[in-house]
Amino acid sequence: LETPHDAKSGGCWMFTRYDEVKDLLRKAHDAPQDIKRLIPESQRTAFHYMLLYSDPPDHTRLRSLISTPFSRAGVNRLDAMITRQVDQLLDVIQEHDEVDFIAAFAEPLPVNVISELLGTPIEDATLLRDWTVTLGRGFDSTINDPVASQRGVEALQEMTRYFTELMARPNQPPGTIIESLKNDSAAQKCSPQEAMAQCMLLLLAGHETTLSLLGNAMYCLLTNPGELAKLRQQPELLDSMINEVLRFEAPFQRAVFRVAAEPITCRGHQIQVGERISPVVSAANRDPAQFAEPDRFDIERKPNRHLAFGLGIHRCLGEKLARSEARIAIGRLLQRFPHLQAVESKPRWKARSLFRTLQSLPVK
Ligand code: HEM
Repeated sequence: LETPHDAKSGGCWMFTRYDEVKDLLRKAHDAPQDIKRLIPESQRTAFHYMLLYSDPPDHTRLRSLISTPFSRAGVNRLDAMITRQVDQLLDVIQEHDEVDFIAAFAEPLPVNVISELLGTPIEDATLLRDWTVTLGRGFDSTINDPVASQRGVEALQEMTRYFTELMARPNQPPGTIIESLKNDSAAQKCSPQEAMAQCMLLLLAGHETTLSLLGNAMYCLLTNPGELAKLRQQPELLDSMINEVLRFEAPFQRAVFRVAAEPITCRGHQIQVGERISPVVSAANRDPAQFAEPDRFDIERKPNRHLAFGLGIHRCLGEKLARSEARIAIGRLLQRFPHLQAVESKPRWKARSLFRTLQSLPVK
């Protein structure tokens, strides 16, 4: 790359090969994300207290506070709730001859599920969705700053105010993440800002990514009728199909930018302290040195060690939840709609660099 790679200029090193991306993701703790390093303490926002932008020991402490609901046992307990949410949305779809799968299903489901888990009132789901969309768009800007636009600044302020007020309420819904974080803050395991910031992170991290997975799974199946027919005959391939969608159309195309905290050598390049690095997960997932026929969507692919959930200490906390939501959603959908078809042959993708998300997916 000829452009300067330092964070101020907006340039960055982009690495696309599987081995390099894997190596750089593992070194994440050696390369804290720039959002924290670049902004003076007096100007810090909720983002700076999120675990995604924290290094150990803060990262370890914060991650342990919110891990339990995302463990295997924690996620299994959510099966009935997710199935209920899925069926409610499918009931609405059933009433129409033709619907946009993204607007009618893939968009509302993840935010509804996270809202229940967090303990935010269900009637606020649209509000929460609008904020996550605005802030998610900011991550696509060249400087990777979610509050780069005026609307981004407002959305962050509104969301911060919302969660601050919500956490200040005397009674929280029992068994929810908000209740648990409020108790942790009272016990001084985290600060009130940290408690609020983790709620915001969970919404932001779990919304557009899971929306993308659901939409991309439907899209891959509808445009690969042979693989769809195979899945209908062998429903036990559902998990393997979801894994292949995660590889083939990775929802999170690149990890959030890192800044080298110490000199790093990668493929003979010397990355200096302060330079930015972008590990491109979506490209690594199609590296022919790692995956045979990488451009073929193969629901039986083995082995399939893609990097869609990242690696190292920042590896996705919500992986089991996302896989479970997709398994229940796509499983129920195929059961209830045996003749589902795409209405248009060409997909409309959102113009995004960070997320691989369909704008719409009309089905009948
Ligand atoms: C981190 C992908 C769903 C919560 C990450 C990272 C990736 C990722 C690649 C690492 C980012 C980096 O290193 O820069 C995905 C994908 C999802 C998904 C592809 C869906 C298909 C979710 C869900 C939640 C969630 C449903 C929770 C509700 C998180 C959190 C982190 C994270 C909290 C930060 C972890 C840390 O810094 O220790 N995710 N994610 N994700 N994800 Fe996910």
